[in-house]
Amino acid sequence: MLADDFADLVRARRSVRSFRPDPIGEDVLAAIFDDARHAPSWSNTRGYCVAVATGEQLDRLRAAYLAAFDASLDLQHRRPGALLKAVLPSGRPDGDFKTWGKYPEDLRPRSVKVGVGLYKHLGIARGDREARDAQARKNCEFFGAPTVLWLFVHEELLPFSAQDGGLMLQTLMLAAQARGVASCPLGVLTTWRHPIDAEFEVPAHYKLITGLALGYASDDSVNDFRAEHPPLVRVPSRR
Ligand SMILES: Cc1cc2nc3c(=O)[nH]c(=O)nc-3n(C[C@H](O)[C@H](O)[C@H](O)COP(=O)(O)O)c2cc1C
Repeated sequence: MLADDFADLVRARRSVRSFRPDPIGEDVLAAIFDDARHAPSWSNTRGYCVAVATGEQLDRLRAAYLAAFDASLDLQHRRPGALLKAVLPSGRPDGDFKTWGKYPEDLRPRSVKVGVGLYKHLGIARGDREARDAQARKNCEFFGAPTVLWLFVHEELLPFSAQDGGLMLQTLMLAAQARGVASCPLGVLTTWRHPIDAEFEVPAHYKLITGLALGYASDDSVNDFRAEHPPLVRVPSRR
């Protein structure tokens, strides 16, 4: 029974890309965070910390991320001279980790597949740059989520602190899902560090690795999209 419930829960979690504005109750959020603290970590170091924003603070962050996104469009499109002109300072990627780098050859097709699948689901044609930009921009609106979390990992314990941050994040997403609260990791927020530094005192040795939108799913059809989840790749045994 427990295993069936868990299987249902883990399959019910999915990345939601349109939220209702309804806030998450303080008690619900507290219960989600209370579950997340039970995630395992390397030597119990828990080498991560979070910033959580709601309300007016989140509105300011949304405005700052949207400004950064808009100012970086030339750079994203790799327009000639854009790199030299280096766009407006607010658009320059100043994240701790690169987000616009090339994917490894063997993984790129997976990323392309989910991207193509999502745009197809939304009826956005491959060449429709305007519609693609508008959809991408919604990431920086946090898809309308009422609560957003930023996850930072200790730079001296990388890669293990990043692994541990991920374990905590999945625990948190499942804890949320169990309470009807949907989520979407927002790796795109890692591109810019200055908006979050303007709002929170993050210790310098903690590096921004992802954002996470939390809230109640709207009935927008974007939320009907399902990414594929093929079986785990198992390397062949030598014996
Ligand atoms: C660390 C991380 C960062 C992600 N960043 C984004 C993002 O910026 N925008 C987005 O729409 N989805 C993002 N995703 C969601 C993935 O695309 C998604 O997890 C994957 O396609 C599988 O789909 P599912 O979460 O619905 O099962 C991210 C996922 C992870 C784990």
